[in-house]
Amino acid sequence: MKIGFFQFAPSIGNVDHNRTRLVEALLQTDADLLVAPELSVSGYYFSSTAQARELAEPIPGPTTDALSEASAKSGCTIVTGIAELAGEQLFNSAVVIGPEGIIGTYRKIHLFNEEKLHFTPGSDGFFSFDLQGVKIGVLVCFDHMFPEAARSLALQGVQIICHPSNLVLPEYGQLTSRVRAFENRMFWVLTNRWGTETVGEKSLTFTGTSQVVNPRGRILIRAETAGDEISAVEVDPKESLDKHITEYNHLLNDRRPEFYFT
Ligand code: ACM
Repeated sequence: MKIGFFQFAPSIGNVDHNRTRLVEALLQTDADLLVAPELSVSGYYFSSTAQARELAEPIPGPTTDALSEASAKSGCTIVTGIAELAGEQLFNSAVVIGPEGIIGTYRKIHLFNEEKLHFTPGSDGFFSFDLQGVKIGVLVCFDHMFPEAARSLALQGVQIICHPSNLVLPEYGQLTSRVRAFENRMFWVLTNRWGTETVGEKSLTFTGTSQVVNPRGRILIRAETAGDEISAVEVDPKESLDKHITEYNHLLNDRRPEFYFT
């Protein structure tokens, strides 16, 4: 299976432009699975909840329609971040779209910083789907700081994590994606955006450096800290199925949950 990232710098408020970039990436790639950044369609740093609401859209909606059409043409499944409008609520979501249309939506559970002003945290649990017989899970950005998130997906048999992100803290997600991949023996596609967004006196600079990591924590491909890049690598998802560390140690079966605090 060929898996990869589409790193770019979504333009805040420029929904048509951002959507077109996602469609173009889908039509261009020869990957089976492509991951785009968090909030790829709207941009990230909203000046108000009213602005976030204006840039959000329902699922299904114009973006999922456009991506379904592009996915049907390219044969590639895409996971992209989107501001989801669901009745009165806004969610920081990731939607999965394949050649047959929408596969599912994950609503970010762990909101970061000012996201808490605009979005409702997801309460539908963690999300996984099947692609070519491979189990694939989705996390959004700050979810990476909670080892329980990736572990919950690993315990469900997930082999590849798709991780749309808008990372601003230096090296955090690039480090944790390697550690989580290693500690759960999974592949991990971290797609981060790059560029800067400003609201009044405050600016956020995103750290790029998207990467695909293997179940041993090794980086297979990596983007620069700035600049658009679409890149994919052939992997064997079966590598994620062997959870033995030694003959007598198994990553998941050796757990002692009776001693873990929740
Ligand atoms: C983040 O969750 N966007 C850091």
